[in-house]
Amino acid sequence: MIIAVDGPAASGKGTIARALAEHYGLPCLDTGLLYRAVGLSVLKASGDPDLEEDALAACDFQDAVLSDPAVRTEAVGSLASRVSIHPSVRQALVQRQRDFAAQPGGAILDGRDIATVIVPDADAKIFVTASVHVRAQRRYDDGLAHGGHPDMDSLIADIQARDTRDMSRDHAPLRVADGADLLDTSNLTIDAAVQQAIALVDAQLERRPKV
Ligand code: CDP
Ligand code: CDP
Repeated sequence: MIIAVDGPAASGKGTIARALAEHYGLPCLDTGLLYRAVGLSVLKASGDPDLEEDALAACDFQDAVLSDPAVRTEAVGSLASRVSIHPSVRQALVQRQRDFAAQPGGAILDGRDIATVIVPDADAKIFVTASVHVRAQRRYDDGLAHGGHPDMDSLIADIQARDTRDMSRDHAPLRVADGADLLDTSNLTIDAAVQQAIALVDAQLERRPKV
Protein backbone atom coordinates (compact mmCIF):
# COMPACT_ATOMS: atom_id res chain seq x y z
CA MET A 1 0.00 0.00 0.00
CA ILE A 2 1.43 3.37 -1.04
CA ILE A 3 0.04 6.63 0.34
CA ALA A 4 1.01 9.95 -1.26
CA VAL A 5 0.73 13.14 0.80
CA ASP A 6 1.39 16.42 -1.02
CA GLY A 7 0.90 20.08 -0.17
CA PRO A 8 2.55 23.48 0.30
CA ALA A 9 4.94 24.60 3.06
CA ALA A 10 3.65 24.21 6.64
CA SER A 11 0.29 22.82 5.52
CA GLY A 12 0.78 20.01 8.05
CA LYS A 13 1.58 17.29 5.52
CA GLY A 14 4.63 15.99 7.44
CA THR A 15 2.67 15.72 10.69
CA ILE A 16 -0.17 13.94 8.89
CA ALA A 17 2.18 11.63 6.96
CA ARG A 18 3.93 10.56 10.19
CA ALA A 19 0.59 9.93 11.93
CA LEU A 20 -0.66 7.89 8.96
CA ALA A 21 2.60 5.92 9.03
CA GLU A 22 1.99 5.03 12.65
CA HIS A 23 -1.69 4.21 12.07
CA TYR A 24 -1.08 1.92 9.09
CA GLY A 25 2.31 0.62 10.29
CA LEU A 26 4.19 1.86 7.22
CA PRO A 27 7.60 3.55 6.82
CA CYS A 28 7.48 7.25 5.93
CA LEU A 29 9.78 9.44 3.80
CA ASP A 30 9.86 13.25 4.03
CA THR A 31 10.99 13.94 0.45
CA GLY A 32 11.36 17.68 1.12
CA LEU A 33 14.32 16.79 3.30
CA LEU A 34 16.19 15.54 0.21
CA TYR A 35 15.71 18.87 -1.59
CA ARG A 36 16.62 20.70 1.62
CA ALA A 37 19.86 18.65 1.84
CA VAL A 38 20.72 19.69 -1.72
CA GLY A 39 19.97 23.35 -0.88
CA LEU A 40 22.11 23.27 2.26
CA SER A 41 24.96 21.48 0.47
CA VAL A 42 25.04 24.17 -2.24
CA LEU A 43 25.26 26.77 0.50
CA LYS A 44 28.09 24.91 2.28
CA ALA A 45 29.99 24.61 -1.02
CA SER A 46 29.46 28.36 -1.67
CA GLY A 47 27.66 27.41 -4.87
CA ASP A 48 24.81 29.22 -6.63
CA PRO A 49 21.42 27.46 -6.10
CA ASP A 50 20.10 29.00 -9.32
CA LEU A 51 22.92 27.45 -11.39
CA GLU A 52 21.89 23.96 -12.48
CA GLU A 53 25.51 22.65 -12.43
CA ASP A 54 26.10 23.73 -8.83
CA ALA A 55 22.75 22.32 -7.69
CA LEU A 56 23.33 19.02 -9.48
CA ALA A 57 26.80 18.64 -7.91
CA ALA A 58 25.14 19.05 -4.48
CA CYS A 59 22.82 16.05 -5.12
CA ASP A 60 25.76 13.92 -4.08
CA PHE A 61 25.33 15.22 -0.51
CA GLN A 62 26.67 13.39 2.55
CA ASP A 63 23.95 11.73 4.66
CA ALA A 64 25.12 13.77 7.68
CA VAL A 65 23.57 16.87 6.03
CA LEU A 66 20.13 15.33 6.58
CA SER A 67 20.54 15.65 10.34
CA ASP A 68 22.14 19.12 10.34
CA PRO A 69 19.78 21.37 12.38
CA ALA A 70 20.02 24.08 9.68
CA VAL A 71 18.30 21.79 7.19
CA ARG A 72 14.89 22.50 8.82
CA THR A 73 15.06 26.31 8.66
CA GLU A 74 12.84 28.45 6.41
CA ALA A 75 16.03 29.86 4.78
CA VAL A 76 17.02 26.36 3.67
CA GLY A 77 13.39 25.72 2.62
CA SER A 78 13.75 28.64 0.21
CA LEU A 79 17.08 27.30 -1.10
CA ALA A 80 15.43 23.88 -1.56
CA SER A 81 12.69 25.47 -3.61
CA ARG A 82 15.30 27.18 -5.83
CA VAL A 83 17.39 24.04 -6.47
CA SER A 84 14.24 21.95 -7.05
CA ILE A 85 13.40 23.92 -10.21
CA HIS A 86 16.27 22.26 -12.13
CA PRO A 87 15.11 19.14 -14.04
CA SER A 88 18.44 17.31 -13.50
CA VAL A 89 18.18 17.81 -9.74
CA ARG A 90 14.65 16.36 -9.69
CA GLN A 91 15.83 13.47 -11.87
CA ALA A 92 18.77 12.75 -9.54
CA LEU A 93 16.38 12.33 -6.59
CA VAL A 94 13.61 10.33 -8.30
CA GLN A 95 15.09 6.84 -7.96
CA ARG A 96 15.76 7.18 -4.24
CA GLN A 97 12.09 8.10 -3.70
CA ARG A 98 10.72 5.34 -5.95
CA ASP A 99 12.96 2.75 -4.25
CA PHE A 100 11.54 3.83 -0.90
CA ALA A 101 7.97 3.56 -2.26
CA ALA A 102 8.68 0.07 -3.63
CA GLN A 103 9.44 -1.51 -0.23
CA PRO A 104 7.52 -4.71 0.43
CA GLY A 105 4.42 -3.83 2.45
CA GLY A 106 4.32 -0.29 1.13
CA ALA A 107 5.24 3.21 2.25
CA ILE A 108 4.07 6.76 2.81
CA LEU A 109 5.83 9.67 1.09
CA ASP A 110 5.18 13.37 1.57
CA GLY A 111 6.27 16.20 -0.71
CA ARG A 112 5.05 18.22 -3.69
CA ASP A 113 4.95 15.78 -6.63
CA ILE A 114 4.43 12.39 -4.97
CA ALA A 115 0.98 11.73 -6.43
CA THR A 116 1.68 13.47 -9.75
CA VAL A 117 5.18 12.22 -10.64
CA ILE A 118 6.86 9.89 -8.13
CA VAL A 119 4.04 7.35 -7.61
CA PRO A 120 1.05 8.41 -9.73
CA ASP A 121 -0.54 4.98 -9.13
CA ALA A 122 -0.44 5.38 -5.32
CA ASP A 123 -3.33 3.61 -3.53
CA ALA A 124 -4.34 6.78 -1.68
CA LYS A 125 -3.59 10.45 -2.38
CA ILE A 126 -4.12 13.37 -0.02
CA PHE A 127 -3.44 17.03 -0.81
CA VAL A 128 -3.01 18.93 2.46
CA THR A 129 -3.46 22.69 2.45
CA ALA A 130 -4.06 25.68 4.77
CA SER A 131 -4.28 29.46 4.38
CA VAL A 132 -1.00 31.39 3.99
CA HIS A 133 -1.65 33.21 7.25
CA VAL A 134 -2.19 30.01 9.25
CA ARG A 135 0.91 28.43 7.71
CA ALA A 136 3.07 31.48 8.53
CA GLN A 137 1.67 31.48 12.08
CA ARG A 138 2.71 27.82 12.48
CA ARG A 139 6.25 28.63 11.38
CA TYR A 140 6.21 31.63 13.72
CA ASP A 141 5.15 29.46 16.67
CA ASP A 142 7.78 26.83 15.79
CA GLY A 143 10.44 29.58 15.61
CA LEU A 144 9.49 30.94 19.05
CA ALA A 145 9.37 27.44 20.54
CA HIS A 146 12.93 26.89 19.34
CA GLY A 147 14.17 30.09 20.96
CA GLY A 148 14.28 32.12 17.73
CA HIS A 149 13.01 35.62 16.88
CA PRO A 150 10.77 34.99 13.88
CA ASP A 151 9.31 37.87 11.90
CA MET A 152 5.73 37.34 10.74
CA ASP A 153 5.96 39.60 7.65
CA SER A 154 9.07 37.89 6.31
CA LEU A 155 7.59 34.44 7.01
CA ILE A 156 4.48 35.36 4.99
CA ALA A 157 6.65 36.72 2.16
CA ASP A 158 8.89 33.60 2.15
CA ILE A 159 5.94 31.20 2.10
CA GLN A 160 4.21 33.13 -0.68
CA ALA A 161 7.40 33.23 -2.76
CA ARG A 162 7.89 29.49 -2.24
CA ASP A 163 4.24 28.70 -3.15
CA THR A 164 4.56 30.72 -6.37
CA ARG A 165 7.88 29.09 -7.33
CA ASP A 166 6.67 25.57 -6.49
CA MET A 167 3.38 25.97 -8.39
CA SER A 168 4.73 27.71 -11.47
CA ARG A 169 7.87 25.69 -12.28
CA ASP A 170 7.88 23.73 -15.55
CA HIS A 171 8.89 20.37 -14.06
CA ALA A 172 6.70 18.63 -11.48
CA PRO A 173 4.87 21.76 -10.27
CA LEU A 174 2.85 21.56 -7.06
CA ARG A 175 -0.75 20.73 -8.00
CA VAL A 176 -3.62 18.55 -6.86
CA ALA A 177 -3.27 15.15 -8.56
CA ASP A 178 -6.15 13.41 -10.30
CA GLY A 179 -7.97 11.34 -7.71
CA ALA A 180 -6.48 13.17 -4.70
CA ASP A 181 -8.67 14.37 -1.83
CA LEU A 182 -8.15 17.89 -0.47
CA LEU A 183 -7.68 18.35 3.26
CA ASP A 184 -7.73 21.97 4.47
CA THR A 185 -6.16 22.05 7.96
CA SER A 186 -6.55 25.85 8.50
CA ASN A 187 -9.10 25.40 11.27
CA LEU A 188 -8.22 21.90 12.43
CA THR A 189 -6.26 20.74 15.43
CA ILE A 190 -3.56 18.17 14.65
CA ASP A 191 -5.77 15.39 16.06
CA ALA A 192 -8.77 16.42 13.95
CA ALA A 193 -6.60 16.71 10.81
CA VAL A 194 -5.17 13.24 11.40
CA GLN A 195 -8.64 11.72 11.96
CA GLN A 196 -9.88 13.29 8.72
CA ALA A 197 -6.83 12.07 6.83
CA ILE A 198 -7.38 8.50 8.06
CA ALA A 199 -11.06 8.68 7.03
CA LEU A 200 -10.11 9.96 3.54
CA VAL A 201 -7.46 7.25 3.08
CA ASP A 202 -9.82 4.51 4.28
CA ALA A 203 -12.52 5.72 1.86
CA GLN A 204 -10.03 5.76 -1.05
CA LEU A 205 -8.79 2.27 -0.20
CA GLU A 206 -12.41 1.08 -0.08
CA ARG A 207 -13.02 2.45 -3.60
CA ARG A 208 -9.92 0.71 -5.03
CA PRO A 209 -10.78 -1.76 -7.77
CA LYS A 210 -10.72 -5.28 -6.32
CA VAL A 211 -8.32 -7.69 -8.08
O1 CDP B 1 5.30 19.21 6.59
P1 CDP B 1 4.72 20.60 6.53
O2 CDP B 1 5.74 21.67 6.30
O3 CDP B 1 3.57 20.71 5.58
O4 CDP B 1 4.08 20.93 7.95
P2 CDP B 1 4.35 20.27 9.40
O5 CDP B 1 5.81 20.32 9.69
O6 CDP B 1 3.65 18.96 9.50
O7 CDP B 1 3.56 21.28 10.33
C1 CDP B 1 4.01 22.59 10.55
C2 CDP B 1 3.63 23.01 11.96
O8 CDP B 1 2.22 23.15 12.04
C3 CDP B 1 4.04 21.99 13.03
O9 CDP B 1 4.50 22.71 14.16
C4 CDP B 1 2.74 21.30 13.37
O10 CDP B 1 2.70 20.84 14.70
C5 CDP B 1 1.71 22.39 13.14
N1 CDP B 1 0.39 21.87 12.74
C6 CDP B 1 -0.74 22.41 13.30
O11 CDP B 1 -0.64 23.30 14.13
N2 CDP B 1 -2.00 21.96 12.93
C7 CDP B 1 -2.14 20.99 12.04
N3 CDP B 1 -3.38 20.58 11.69
C8 CDP B 1 -0.99 20.44 11.44
C9 CDP B 1 0.28 20.91 11.80
O1 CDP C 1 8.42 21.45 5.13
P1 CDP C 1 8.05 22.39 4.01
O2 CDP C 1 6.71 22.09 3.46
O3 CDP C 1 8.29 23.81 4.32
O4 CDP C 1 9.07 22.12 2.80
P2 CDP C 1 9.66 20.77 2.32
O5 CDP C 1 8.59 19.75 2.10
O6 CDP C 1 10.78 20.40 3.21
O7 CDP C 1 10.22 21.14 0.87
C1 CDP C 1 11.19 22.17 0.66
C2 CDP C 1 11.15 22.54 -0.83
O8 CDP C 1 11.61 21.40 -1.58
C3 CDP C 1 9.77 22.85 -1.39
O9 CDP C 1 9.42 24.22 -1.28
C4 CDP C 1 9.89 22.39 -2.84
O10 CDP C 1 10.39 23.41 -3.67
C5 CDP C 1 10.90 21.27 -2.80
N1 CDP C 1 10.28 19.95 -2.91
C6 CDP C 1 9.97 19.49 -4.17
O11 CDP C 1 10.18 20.19 -5.15
N2 CDP C 1 9.43 18.25 -4.33
C7 CDP C 1 9.19 17.46 -3.27
N3 CDP C 1 8.69 16.24 -3.47
C8 CDP C 1 9.47 17.93 -1.97
C9 CDP C 1 10.01 19.20 -1.81
